[in-house]
Parts: sequence; structure tokens; C-alpha cells
Amino acid sequence: MRKLKIGVLISGSGSNLQALIDACDNPNFPAIITHVIANNADAYGITRAENARISSKIISHNDYQDRQSFDMAIDKSFRHMGVEFICYAGFMRIMTAYFIDRWQDRIINIHPSLLPKYKGLNTHQRAIDAGDKKHGCSVHYVRVKLDDGPIIMQAQVDILKDDTVAELATRVLVQEHILYPQALKFIAKKILDTL
Ligand code: GRF
Repeated sequence: MRKLKIGVLISGSGSNLQALIDACDNPNFPAIITHVIANNADAYGITRAENARISSKIISHNDYQDRQSFDMAIDKSFRHMGVEFICYAGFMRIMTAYFIDRWQDRIINIHPSLLPKYKGLNTHQRAIDAGDKKHGCSVHYVRVKLDDGPIIMQAQVDILKDDTVAELATRVLVQEHILYPQALKFIAKKILDTL
């Protein structure tokens, strides 16, 4: 079975990466992770990739003089590994138009809010402060503007009375781990159908 070759970009714990790794373990899943890159040497997600025997690399933005040379290094590494599609999974770095344009409609991200609400950081706190009844997560295409691309899928959770940020974040994360593999499956199938 032809599978779409996925590169994953991470910055931290990589629990969403783990959800994708687990989904890709299913022989019928239409994608396979072929390369994981972290922009942060401490990212635990690198250990997750190693445990799954997936090729991985740390490319730290601190080692590059400017944004574009960092982006070029990431681009080169993914192309070298035959990556066809990129998933950001807790990746906390804004990439240049150079990179985004080279991967037009080939990068998706998971964001912990019901976009277009709460782009950027502290989404759970902001949803609680606003008195929202519903919160959740979104998988969307990546564009140059932060958290701005077309939405592919969303999952909702209720905000409960007296919810703390940590409690709410935990419930949203459970949904992220379900939603991200579903969205990737949907997109990968669609792309493979056009090849
Ligand atoms: C998740 O809420 C993700 O959406 C956000 O960072 C959190 C941790 O992600 N951007 P992970 O455990 O590194 O996947």
C-alpha cells in the first residue's frame, strides 16, 4: 500500500507526535512518519521518535544566523528524507514565507483552540477568562500568518464551572490526540488519490 511520507516538526513533549506514531502503526493507515525534526535539543519527542525507530534530528534555530537559513536547513533535511507532507506537532516556531511557500498546502498544524478564536498562546486561559462554554482544538493548514490557514477538523470540549487551566488543557489534549490522526488520515487519503 502506498503511504504518504510524513515529516513532523516538534519543540517539546511530543504527545501529539506519539498519537501520530501510534496511528501510523496501523498497516491500513495511509501515512508513515519518515523523519522527525526538533528545533529544541531538550524536546522529549526526539526520544519518542527514537523509541519508534524513526529517523530524527535536532536542528536548533540558535545555530543559525537568520530565520531563512534555519528554514532552509529544515527544508533540506525533509527533502533529503523524501518527506512529502509536514505535520507541526507542538512546534513553537514561526517559519518564513520561503519555507511555507515551498510546502504550499503540504503543512498542517494542531492548535489548542476552536479557531479562529484564540490564535497564539495561552488559549485555555483566554477561553476561561472570556466565559466561553465551549473550547477545543483545530487542525488547520499552515499559512504565513500565525494559526490562520483553512480549518480541516475541530473537536470540542465543554468548559466546566470552576475548570482550572490545567484541567481544561488536559481534556483538550485528549481530544487533540484523537483529532490529529483523524485529520491526517483524511488529508493523506485525499493526496494519495491525486497521485
Ligand atoms: C498541545 O496543546 C499542542 O496543541 C500545543 O502544545 C501542546 C503540547 O503538545 N501547540 P505536544 O505534547 O508537544 O504534542
